[in-house]
Amino acid sequence: MGFETLVVSVEDGIGTITLNRPEVLNALSSQVFGELSQAAGELADDDSVRVLIITGGDKVFAAGADIRDMAKAEAMDIALAGRPSQKAFQLIENIPKPVIAAVAGYALGGGCELTLVCDVRIAADNAKFGLPEITLGILPGAGGTQRLPRLIGVGKAKEMIFSGDFIDAEEALSVGLVNKVVPAEELMNEAKRLAKRFASRGAVALRMAKSAVNEGLRMDLAAGLQYEHKCFSLLFATQDQKEGMQAFLEKRKPKFQGK
Ligand code: HXC
Repeated sequence: MGFETLVVSVEDGIGTITLNRPEVLNALSSQVFGELSQAAGELADDDSVRVLIITGGDKVFAAGADIRDMAKAEAMDIALAGRPSQKAFQLIENIPKPVIAAVAGYALGGGCELTLVCDVRIAADNAKFGLPEITLGILPGAGGTQRLPRLIGVGKAKEMIFSGDFIDAEEALSVGLVNKVVPAEELMNEAKRLAKRFASRGAVALRMAKSAVNEGLRMDLAAGLQYEHKCFSLLFATQDQKEGMQAFLEKRKPKFQGK
């Protein structure tokens, strides 16, 4: 399917979604949320795609939800709209493949919240993160109040949510909001390098590992450990487990089939 607000490509097992509304700094309109859901669903279902990268290109990731879309909304418009941003982001969070955010420039509001549903965040050294919703009289409503504290801790998350201030890439790295900072011109190379590394691992083990972490975070520790053990046990039913361990014993690289 063709998209108006995104560019979607697949190369070497890596699916890339690029937000494409440069005239408004990739602001996330309702059309973007719809197309994101569609594109993410298609790449999730495409067996040739092993890893996804979500980016906004080399200038800006996304300056948040589209303020023009929301400015005249009434409470019931929002309440009855069916939570399009939360739904699109939950869909991305639950894709059973690794998803990498490659962030250059601003990742604000809904843009920052989009990075939070990715598994790993790589930042260009010019990246800036923030949740400025409070300066608009609202709060981060696409998961920010829930996922940011879980990722970076309650204190720093509240500071960002209450102040609306931006942090730069180095600070984002120091608080654990991003995994790595690279020179801007290296951003996509680094994201692809990591994507290829993930793609070289067994697809079923990756799927189970992501599920164990994501589902486990919603449970208490005892239930999470039970769930981890179920995932762990199931992997012994895969050819990849036999191949991975046999390859180790034969001192060679494994050839994973994803089954
Ligand atoms: C709509 C936006 C936009 C946005 C920028 N633009 N951000 N349009 N929604 N979120 C538009 C501007 O209106 C302008 O259009 C063009 O993009 C360039 O932006 P400038 O402001 O001229 O650029 P600059 O001076 O470089 O400032 C960059 C900026 C600023 C600091 C990022 O644009 C900004 O503060 N943007 C809003 C950030 C924000 O508040 N995000 C949170 C949104 S609420 P024109 O036509 O004038 O050229 C949110 C809620 C999520 O995300 C929850 C949803 C359920």
